[in-house]
Amino acid sequence: MPTNNKTELIPVTETKAAKAPKAPALPDAQTVTFVKHWTDRLFSFRVTRPASLRFRSGEFVMIGLMDDPDPNTGKQKPLLRAYSIASPSWDEELEFYSIKVQDGPLTSRLQHIQPGDEIILRPKPVGTLVHDALLPGHRVWFFATGTGIAPFASLLRDPQTYEDYDEVILTHTCREVGELQYGKELIENIRTDEMLAELMGEGFHEKLKYYPTTTREESPKMGRITDLLRSGEVYTDLGVEPIKPETDRAMICGNLAFNLELKEMLEEMGLEEGANSDPKQYVVEKAFLD
Ligand SMILES: Cc1cc2nc3c(=O)[nH]c(=O)nc-3n(C[C@H](O)[C@H](O)[C@H](O)COP(=O)(O)OP(=O)(O)OC[C@H]3O[C@@H](n4cnc5c(N)ncnc54)[C@H](O)[C@@H]3O)c2cc1C
Ligand SMILES: NC(=O)c1ccc[n+]([C@@H]2O[C@H](COP(=O)([O-])OP(=O)(O)OC[C@H]3O[C@@H](n4cnc5c(N)ncnc54)[C@H](OP(=O)(O)O)[C@@H]3O)[C@@H](O)[C@H]2O)c1
Repeated sequence: MPTNNKTELIPVTETKAAKAPKAPALPDAQTVTFVKHWTDRLFSFRVTRPASLRFRSGEFVMIGLMDDPDPNTGKQKPLLRAYSIASPSWDEELEFYSIKVQDGPLTSRLQHIQPGDEIILRPKPVGTLVHDALLPGHRVWFFATGTGIAPFASLLRDPQTYEDYDEVILTHTCREVGELQYGKELIENIRTDEMLAELMGEGFHEKLKYYPTTTREESPKMGRITDLLRSGEVYTDLGVEPIKPETDRAMICGNLAFNLELKEMLEEMGLEEGANSDPKQYVVEKAFLD
């Protein structure tokens, strides 16, 4: 669930922990507290947060389950994958937004987790999609495809995002309308959640602009964000100035082809790629390998 809005009606696909989490038995185990299935390919879940875990909004960790026992030795090994933390760094729990790959070693099983189950979480957060990797600017763009929205779900709920920038723009491109729902509810919650307003200051969300698009199913805005930037449609639709290195900062998270195409476009606009150790105008991270 994008925020802790407890007044929301809970659809049948959401499941919450009925009782207090039991003591972890796995190494680095955390207990699942909430699961929501968004489509047949996407779900989100929340887990308990290790008391010692500190992370910067936008970072990722390795999470997973124990693999099936080795047929010869009977031993089990952890089966881990990189996952962006979708919750902000101040949240008492951790949220993740996940794909379900039907024959995927991890997600073919992870998709069946229920509140009260345990997952493995290695508490070593890393990543490039962090404020520290960008120079100060006037406006920040968060460009996502698919589950690449996850690190931005964290950053969009971090007060620093609104302290550092006068304008914050999230673009999210998916194939189908249903795949936009997590982001849509995230934005709705950010705009209405009283706790966030208290934390970030009344009216903070007026800085936030949201630009969802689909490519393979009819929706109010169709097309790849790269094409919409090239044609200038994004700027016209949002009523904003075109991207320039003096004012704009960007973070990119999506499939490889999207990352590479957008990276090239930003470079042509004069933005340079930054890193934790060398902050510049934009940063990029894969939402999944290949
Ligand atoms: C830095 C980083 C952060 C990541 N963060 C997330 C995240 O927040 N949420 C998430 O769902 N995944 C994320 N991933 C992908 C994740 O690590 C796994 O690949 C994914 O959970 C599938 O695991 P699997 O073992 O089931 O299949 P894998 O064997 O890992 O993948 C099988 C195939 O499924 C496709 N695939 C994998 N992940 C995705 C995806 N997210 N969207 C669309 N297609 C995919 C790819 O074609 C891949 O070759 C991230 C990957 C990286 C490198
Ligand atoms: N989404 C589904 O319904 C679905 C169903 C079954 C299997 N899969 C498989 O799952 C994997 C991931 O699918 P996904 O839909 O999550 O992610 P994806 O293929 O990475 O696509 C996500 C979005 O990114 C867009 N995109 C792709 N390349 C781009 C580029 N160079 N520049 C700008 N935008 C770009 C896509 O537009 P385009 O549509 O124009 O490519 C789509 O809107 C794929 O291997 C796919 O075959 C997906």
